[in-house]
Amino acid sequence: MLSFGFASAGALVQPSAPRHSVLRASSPSMAVLTPFTGEELIQVPDGVLRENAKGRPWVDQRPRPRRNRKSESMRRMVRETSISPANFIYPLFIHDEDSNVAIASMPGCERHSLKSMLAEAKDAWQYGVRSFVLFPKVDDNLKSNRGEEAYNPSGIVPRAVSMLKEALPDSIVCTDVALDPYSSMGHDGIVEDGRILNDETIEQLCKQSVCQARAGCDVVAPSDMMDGRVGAIRDALDAEGFADVSILAYTAKYASAYYGPFRDALDSHPGFGDKKTYQQDPANGREALIECQLDELEGADMLMVKPGLPYLDVILRLKQSTNLPVAAYHVSGEYSMLKAAAERGWLDERKVALETLTCFRRAGADIILTYYAKQASKWLLEDGLI
Ligand code: PBG
Repeated sequence: MLSFGFASAGALVQPSAPRHSVLRASSPSMAVLTPFTGEELIQVPDGVLRENAKGRPWVDQRPRPRRNRKSESMRRMVRETSISPANFIYPLFIHDEDSNVAIASMPGCERHSLKSMLAEAKDAWQYGVRSFVLFPKVDDNLKSNRGEEAYNPSGIVPRAVSMLKEALPDSIVCTDVALDPYSSMGHDGIVEDGRILNDETIEQLCKQSVCQARAGCDVVAPSDMMDGRVGAIRDALDAEGFADVSILAYTAKYASAYYGPFRDALDSHPGFGDKKTYQQDPANGREALIECQLDELEGADMLMVKPGLPYLDVILRLKQSTNLPVAAYHVSGEYSMLKAAAERGWLDERKVALETLTCFRRAGADIILTYYAKQASKWLLEDGLI
């Protein structure tokens, strides 16, 4: 006997027991909850529900994608992407002081003394993090329009690089190439009459890159968005005998408001105007492919998209048009948003952070620069995922 109203005649689904509660107004002013008794019959079209050999309802559906989701082991077996500490680059803020300063808009991040930076890198190392990128906060009286401090061999970055490489020789130490931390104008390049000079800036960036290479960095990461800087930096490095130093190009770097907390951290807000004459317009996607082609031709080893989460489409498009590794920068503002929501108890930080990092990988990022690098690696270890 059919206990369900399926099969040929009528194809009615009749719940055998009350299953739902429905709101009914017994008087115009009062709504009371009464159980749904099933007297309202829900019509299911003929032939949709059949009965299987066990007397259970059967929808004649052969492909069932849920089979590949039926257990955690099955889900792990068919998972398309994974994240691992090997994919992360951990950004570290440094300054030339003896103690650390918390960054209010980036809970959990600090401006480190060099000693503390080393301790943090070693701590991250034990969870599998191997790559770091350094961002300095430079004293105001060392700043100038031409940003000469950027290639001072005894500046904070070269010292930090040597310390890191000495303590962790197998690490990958990346350095940011741009003038903004050193610029009295708060811009990535030299300013003249309110304009950012392209080729004059490149000369400085070449010196900065060579200085960082001499200190022992493994990767230089130009984040300035001047035209032609990747090729020029490549030549400058090669001419000095640093053919092995890699270039991680900020290929599609957008003029984004998501960098706000980073600029708080380094006190590097633009002195005037914005960065829209050199960083990309957030409304543009195709333009990223022009930058991609140029950086490839100029000898970049890896290409980056920045910010990350609002630009997943750009990550995918870059991935589809290059054979070079693609990096995504999960930037300061993205980190701050998660932290703020988590602090209020509105989001589960651990789940949301790991999901976010996974989504970068799904979109096509091989590498992720993230302030969560250490924490996420810890979580992945705890969850037995690595
Ligand atoms: C500097 C630089 C910036 C970031 C990385 N390198 C800021 C900017 O371009 O103004 C932002 C990183 C972040 O927000 O986490 N050229």
